[in-house]
Amino acid sequence: MAKVTFQPSGLSLEIDGDVTLRDAAHTLGIDVQDRCGGQGACCNCIIMVLEGMVNINPKTHLEQPVFYLEKNERLSCQCKITGDVVVEPGLKSLGG
Ligand code: FES
Repeated sequence: MAKVTFQPSGLSLEIDGDVTLRDAAHTLGIDVQDRCGGQGACCNCIIMVLEGMVNINPKTHLEQPVFYLEKNERLSCQCKITGDVVVEPGLKSLGG
């Protein structure tokens, strides 16, 4: 189990390695755009990783072609964690 904390709310959740950050956000009622249902196709579910990038799996083949992801941004539907992280839904995910 590892803890994900979402900013700016500070809401957190203990999750295991099978739960994506997108799903964790939804469990807490945090809005992360996900028009493709977590299939890695819409690129709307961007989160900023504020702490703990080393505790997230490497970028998947679905994230590699997304040229506009900043260094600290990931697609939340592709992220599973092995240790504690602090994240914030990206502005790109709020506007759709
Ligand atoms: S939910 Fe569509 S890319 Fe993540």
